[in-house]
Amino acid sequence: MKKPLYGLTALFDTPDALMHAVEETAKAGYTRYDVHAPYPLHGMDRAMRLKPSPLGYFALVFGLLGAVSAVGLMTWITLVDYPLVIGGKPFWSWPAFVPVAFEITVLLASVLTVVSMIVIYFKFPNNSHPLHDTPFLKRVSSDGFGISIEAVDPLFDEARVRGMLESVGGKDVGPVYFDVEDLNHGQKVFDLKFVGLLAGVGMVVSIITYLGLNVMLYMEPFSWMMEQEKLKPQAASALFSDGIGMRPPVEGTVARGFLPYPYKGRPEDAGKYLVNPLPVTKPVLDLGREKYMTFCSPCHGNFGRGDSRLAGQFPNPPTLHSDKVRDWPDGSIYHVMTDGQNVMPSYAAQVSRDERWAIVHYIRVLQRAHHAKESDLQ
Ligand code: HEC
Repeated sequence: MKKPLYGLTALFDTPDALMHAVEETAKAGYTRYDVHAPYPLHGMDRAMRLKPSPLGYFALVFGLLGAVSAVGLMTWITLVDYPLVIGGKPFWSWPAFVPVAFEITVLLASVLTVVSMIVIYFKFPNNSHPLHDTPFLKRVSSDGFGISIEAVDPLFDEARVRGMLESVGGKDVGPVYFDVEDLNHGQKVFDLKFVGLLAGVGMVVSIITYLGLNVMLYMEPFSWMMEQEKLKPQAASALFSDGIGMRPPVEGTVARGFLPYPYKGRPEDAGKYLVNPLPVTKPVLDLGREKYMTFCSPCHGNFGRGDSRLAGQFPNPPTLHSDKVRDWPDGSIYHVMTDGQNVMPSYAAQVSRDERWAIVHYIRVLQRAHHAKESDLQ
C-alpha cells in the first residue's frame, strides 16, 4: 500500500536563503507550510505572514481566573469562614490581598497558558509527527535551514511546489510520507497509558514526600502539630515531685484577670467599703438574671424565696426578701457570693466579678418586686 504524502521539504545553507524562500512561498499564496531552523530567526514570522498568536487570550483568561479566585478565596476566608481582627483593620482589607492576588494571577497565567499550548496545540502527550526521524529534521536540528510545505495546502501540486522550491535555491527537495502512527495523530491526554503514567508519577511523588517529611525529616511539632510535648488538663507529670500536672499559682503572684479578694472573712468591711461598679441597665439586669437562674436559683428558688428545687437535699437557704438582706448594702450580698457563708460555698470560681455584681442588681429587682409600694404601681 502506498503511504499518503505529508508534503515536500527543502534545505537551504543560510538563514538569508531560507528567508528569501519563505517570502517567495508566502507570495505564491501557500498557507500550510512551516520553517525549521536550529535557532530563532528574527523577522521570520513577518516573512511567513503569521497572524498574532491566540495564546495571549489564554493568558488573559487564566490571569483573570487567578485574580478572581485569589480575591474570592481571601474574601470568603476573611468575611465568612474565619473573620479575625488583625491590627484593628477592617476584615476586608484589600491592600493585604494585593501580593497574593498578584502571585496567583501570574502563576495561573503562566503555567496554564504553557500547559494549554502543549496540550491543545502540540497535542501532548502525543508526539508523533511525519517529520520525526527524517534526515531533513536531523539537518535542521544542527546546521541546516529548511522549509516544509504540506500536501493539504489548497494550492499544493507536487511538481509545481518542487519547481518553486528549486527555483529559490532549495536543495535536497524531497517528499515526506505519513506513517500509520502519524495518521492516528490525535489527542491522547485521556489515553489509558498516559493517565496511568500520571497516576504512577503522582503516587511515587506522594510516597517520597510522605516518607521524606514524616520519617527522614520528622520534626516535632512542625510535622504534626497535634503531636507535641504538652500537658493536658488533669494529666500527671513526672516533672514535679508530687506527680501533679496542674499547679497552683506561684506564691505571691496574681493571675491576669483575677484580683485577690481583700475582704476574705470580713463581711462587715465588704458591706462598708464595696460599691457596685455596674450601672442598672437592661443588659446588666439580663446578665444578672441569666447568672442568677443558673447558679443561685437551684437553692434559693427562681424568685429568691428560699423555696428551692433541692428542698430537703440541702440545708434550706433563707429567703432573700428578709428585712436583713433588703437592708444589706450591695457589698454584703456580693461578699456572700464571693466568700461563701456557713454552708453556702463561694461562687467566685464559677461566676466572674462583674457577673456577681450583675446578680446583686438582679436580686434588688426581685426584692423590689416582692415589696412593691403604692408608688411602683403608678
Ligand atoms: C448550694 C445551694 C446554694 C446556692 C447554689 C446558692 N446559695 Fe446562697 N445560700 C445557701 C444557704 C444554705 C444559705 C444560708 C447560709 C447560712 O447558713 O448562713 C445561703 C445564704 C445566702 C445569702 C445570705 C442570706 C442570709 O439571710 O444570710 C445570700 C445573700 C445568698 N445566699 C445569695 C446567693 C446567691 C446570689 C447565689 C448565686 C450566686 C447563691 N446564694 C447560691 C445556699 C445556696
